[in-house]
Amino acid sequence: MKACKLFSGEKRVYVRQRGRMTKAQSHALERFAEYEITDGSQILSSFDYQEPIAIEIGFGMGHSLVRYAAMNPEVTCIGVDVYLPGIGSLIRQCEVQGLDNIRISNRDGNSFLNSVGDKSIETIMVFFPDPWPKKRHSKRRLVNEEFCSCIARKLKQHGNVYLATDSIQYANQIEAVFERQSDMSGGKSDRPSARLESHYDTRSQRLGNEVIDFAYFKK
Ligand SMILES: C[S@@+](CC[C@H](N)C(=O)[O-])C[C@H]1O[C@@H](n2cnc3c(N)ncnc32)[C@H](O)[C@@H]1O
Repeated sequence: MKACKLFSGEKRVYVRQRGRMTKAQSHALERFAEYEITDGSQILSSFDYQEPIAIEIGFGMGHSLVRYAAMNPEVTCIGVDVYLPGIGSLIRQCEVQGLDNIRISNRDGNSFLNSVGDKSIETIMVFFPDPWPKKRHSKRRLVNEEFCSCIARKLKQHGNVYLATDSIQYANQIEAVFERQSDMSGGKSDRPSARLESHYDTRSQRLGNEVIDFAYFKK
């Protein structure tokens, strides 16, 4: 897996190198300012961010977030990703579907979540975070002890976090960090209705790998 370093805000972030941006994505990106949320503290201080709030970190091309936003028009849905073609793709889908409840940040997910007010989020989603399968790279995984305790601080009481991975090592790490988080409860679950079957599900079926979904709630 090729990687590049990127300084997004205060933290060094490692992201996989992916494909080029299409013309349509690039044109859509010209309208990023209409969707952009730069700092999580804006959520509680602006009427633009009506509660309840849901955040998807690492939304990729944005297909699941678009579905979630369409199913939950009363929810302000915030997508956080550092992948610019994906941001362009998400903006295009919002325009085509006429969705006005999606906001987007291109900051590192951990830094963005840290900037959000405590006990302010209803739902957090992290689907197929980059697996970093090599042992020497495993420290780069997004879902670690620090991220998990940040999730616990930011969720409202009874708020939910949904995660999915096709990496057994990552699944074990997710289980271990949430088990140590005393104010969160839950574990393996069925695929939530908001998570569309994606390229990662199809690839896992083809390779005979299991996709593992998790659902936890804040006690
Ligand atoms: C393997 S893709 C999965 C995309 C999508 N969730 C899906 O299920 O199709 C992981 C995504 O997480 C994003 N990502 C990786 N590290 C990130 C970070 N620190 N903060 C925000 N997004 C990140 C990548 O840019 C990429 O779009």
